[in-house]
Amino acid sequence: MTEIKILKIGGSVLTDKTRLESARMEEIERIATEIARHGSGLILVHGAGSFGHIHAKKYNLAERFSPEGVLETHRSVVRLNDLVVESLRRAGSRPVPVHPLSCTLLRDGRIDAMETEPVIEMVNNGLVPVLHGDVAMDRSIGAGIVSGDQLVSHLARTLKPEIVALGTAVDGVIFRGEVLAEVRREALPKIGSELGASAGVDVTGGMRGKLEELLDLADQGVESQIFNAEKAGQIERILMGERVGTLVEGRI
Ligand code: IPE
Repeated sequence: MTEIKILKIGGSVLTDKTRLESARMEEIERIATEIARHGSGLILVHGAGSFGHIHAKKYNLAERFSPEGVLETHRSVVRLNDLVVESLRRAGSRPVPVHPLSCTLLRDGRIDAMETEPVIEMVNNGLVPVLHGDVAMDRSIGAGIVSGDQLVSHLARTLKPEIVALGTAVDGVIFRGEVLAEVRREALPKIGSELGASAGVDVTGGMRGKLEELLDLADQGVESQIFNAEKAGQIERILMGERVGTLVEGRI
């Protein structure tokens, strides 16, 4: 089996989170070029930014089932997915879209079941599956939001990849103005209150949600990195196996 790398690029990097469905095309194209150079074995997950959070909030999807909200939120993130997939294709990669709504089931907002076999076959055949934060059916509350971060941690738990990295619009986990080189669960009570919310509309928890997701993953033996995907070259460095940003480690 191919060595797997899982990379998530946050919606804050790909879009202007304060303006409805505004894609940052230059960023998307730069990122696609970096990925195309080092994309072998890669599963790409991207966030929703202003393509999903705004709809999810409008229909209050976190609180109540809304058939219209499910459709509108999904169609919105699919529009962003299409832009990402198309940019990757133009950059010389072999992307293929994978929509979590069609292969993932939640229970109380957490992934209860996910069809990962097709994703593995895609990677084994040289394709780059491109997943995204999405709306998904939920066994207990009708429908809910599955964040890209949760998809990353579920896939990583199942597939035990070589590299797991979350590209954000900041340099890593920042505490008292400094980027932490590494972080463990033990540090959470101390740094937790300083972890910022995301700029713009965000229904899935900002940096704290991200870190909690990755600490759970680290507890299962899979380390990951949080880094700045807005800085040119960082994605390439990550995909080549370098340490960039903050390493999220398991308990001592
Ligand atoms: C959110 O996904 C999905 C929806 C709101 C539909 P993410 O939580 O992964 O998106 P970003 O990275 O914060 O934009």
